[in-house]
Amino acid sequence: MSEYTQRANELREQIERHNREYFVEDAPVIADADYDALVRELRALEAEHPEVRVEGSVSEGVGAPAAPTFSPVVHVERMLSLDNVFDADELRAWSDRVARGLGLDAGSVAFAVEPKIDGLALAITYLDGVYVQAATRGDGRVGEDVTRNVRTIRGMPMSIGAAGRVEVRGEVFLANEDFERLNAAQRERGEREFANPRNAAAGSLRQKDPRVSASRPLSFLAYQLVGDESAYATYDETIRQLADWGFLTAAQLVVVTGIEEMVARSSWFETHRHDLGYQIDGAVIKVNDLAQRRVLGTTSRAPRWAIARKFAPEERSTRLLAIEVSIGRTGRATPYAVLEPVSVAGSTVAMATLHNEDQVRIKDVRPGDLVIVRKAGDVIPEVLARVPEEGVARGAQWHFPAACPECGGALVRREGESDTYCVNPACPAQLMQQVIHFASRAALDIEGLGEQRVAQLLRVGLISDVADLFRLRVEDLAPLEGFGEISAAALVAGIDAARAQPLSRVLVGLGIRHVGPVAARALAGALHTYDALADADLEMLEAIEGVGPVIAASLYRYVREPEVIERVARLREAGFSLAEPEPERTAAAALAGRAVVVTGALEGYTREEAEAAVVAAGGTSPGSVSKKTYCVVVGESPGASKLARARELGVPLVAGEDFEYLLTMGVWRNTVA
Ligand code: IVH
Repeated sequence: MSEYTQRANELREQIERHNREYFVEDAPVIADADYDALVRELRALEAEHPEVRVEGSVSEGVGAPAAPTFSPVVHVERMLSLDNVFDADELRAWSDRVARGLGLDAGSVAFAVEPKIDGLALAITYLDGVYVQAATRGDGRVGEDVTRNVRTIRGMPMSIGAAGRVEVRGEVFLANEDFERLNAAQRERGEREFANPRNAAAGSLRQKDPRVSASRPLSFLAYQLVGDESAYATYDETIRQLADWGFLTAAQLVVVTGIEEMVARSSWFETHRHDLGYQIDGAVIKVNDLAQRRVLGTTSRAPRWAIARKFAPEERSTRLLAIEVSIGRTGRATPYAVLEPVSVAGSTVAMATLHNEDQVRIKDVRPGDLVIVRKAGDVIPEVLARVPEEGVARGAQWHFPAACPECGGALVRREGESDTYCVNPACPAQLMQQVIHFASRAALDIEGLGEQRVAQLLRVGLISDVADLFRLRVEDLAPLEGFGEISAAALVAGIDAARAQPLSRVLVGLGIRHVGPVAARALAGALHTYDALADADLEMLEAIEGVGPVIAASLYRYVREPEVIERVARLREAGFSLAEPEPERTAAAALAGRAVVVTGALEGYTREEAEAAVVAAGGTSPGSVSKKTYCVVVGESPGASKLARARELGVPLVAGEDFEYLLTMGVWRNTVA
């Protein structure tokens, strides 16, 4: 056997196994991008070395055979898959092939560009306007009968205004919010959570008991009208027809002429992949003219008139080298994975969180394992799952260390809690994170005191608590490495200025659990002084608007801790008034009485900082949009539900670039679509 034949067989075996796991068991063990790479390698091998080809190779197949638990449905017309391209140049090459096939100039072909939803394909049949059948794709020829389950999908039209046989194809999926809710419910019931919305949708659809499907918040988006197309000239006409019949269709679909417009629009989806409210793994580009589609025809697995542009993967497999524990400012000990560096969603990932002890156990990851890592948007990368490897001996199970890796103190996990804590208040790692937080923009906002310098000051022993900052003198700092007279004086001045900060900022800086800028403002605004807060009983705290029982209890406990009492006394000595000025007396009340909702990331602000800035300007920053909302500031990757709600209520959407303008002028200037 040649080495090529051997490799091709190996690849086919792996792909078949992954197909089974993905399509039949709804439990993929490999990231999509790695799967795609296997298929691409096999196709390239088969193209370059015809001798390795075999009849019915998985490289030609679509999906996997139907699972035996549902009755088979033979598709009247084969359900095809889509070919993939992975970048703009491959997309341009595809559009050149399309144009050549049509005998046209590529610049004159009209393309529809729409999201590629990460769900499962369905074919729904109507006879004389009545819903009669729903089937999964299966292997493209034969699918599974899921008529009873699909009937329970919200918004699925049970009748449409059409005569004869009409088949509608589209994708079943779970919207992000529905997925979160479903997983929260699974958690509560102590059942296994789903790894991602696609698996959750697949698992929900293929329930033997339709009542279980009914309880799952599935959605269906239609993208194909099969059958008598003669009534329509273009794809977008068919989509409008589907929408008229009551189907959900892709709102972001646009028809563009010209290759660069088409490429740009497909890139738009990559930039906005987290804004749609559901998971997409690419954009689909389709020839819009139906007559042109017929000229182009299909191959055995995919139409020539459509292509999927797959985005840079957000999930990859890599090797787990070690599991370590990091200590946060509250002492929380978070296990994290040290990984063989891998490029995920455009950045190199060498570390990923494992959240807590239970997660490590549930995922059963051990040093040496192959694992799937996810990085989506600006969230911290996480280890999703382990990839089982046959015939590979595994390392020993990992155990949570008993001692803090930073200070050697005990790590404690309290009854009923999922997190483990280093309970040594003098732990240097906690101290460092506390000081960094204390100096951060949302808290005391001390200019020139970043992570490096905090580490340095702790290392040389100049500080061992946040209150020590206020005793630093220019002559202490100037001789330190990286300092001089000027930078030392600047830092001392920056620290000095912090003494004038109001109580609410100090409360944020202290890093009290559950007390962020919004709660801190509410607390300080209601009781005005630290002493009043420290004296308040639980009932009084809970009665403050914007303060719930969780915040109240956390503060109540916090102010009674001996170390805290001492720290606060030292801050008072350092010159802090620990009082909140009356809002009328603050200079900036530009937004007085206005509710401004912020969604997505704003440049130069964390979420807390943005909200604090609105509050500092006299406004309020509620977590959700209502009729009373003055405007919604839209940053990078905004929340789809907030956008939708704002549009529904006619609340102005303001560009993130205009946030500063809004803060200073108190009015918005430009809106975004
Ligand atoms: S069109 C003949 N459009 O992606 C054309 N498919 O990887 C058939 N998919 O089997 C599909 N979003 O399950 C089309 N906007 C979209 C899609 C889409 C997701 C799925 C579909 C298809 C698979 C191919």
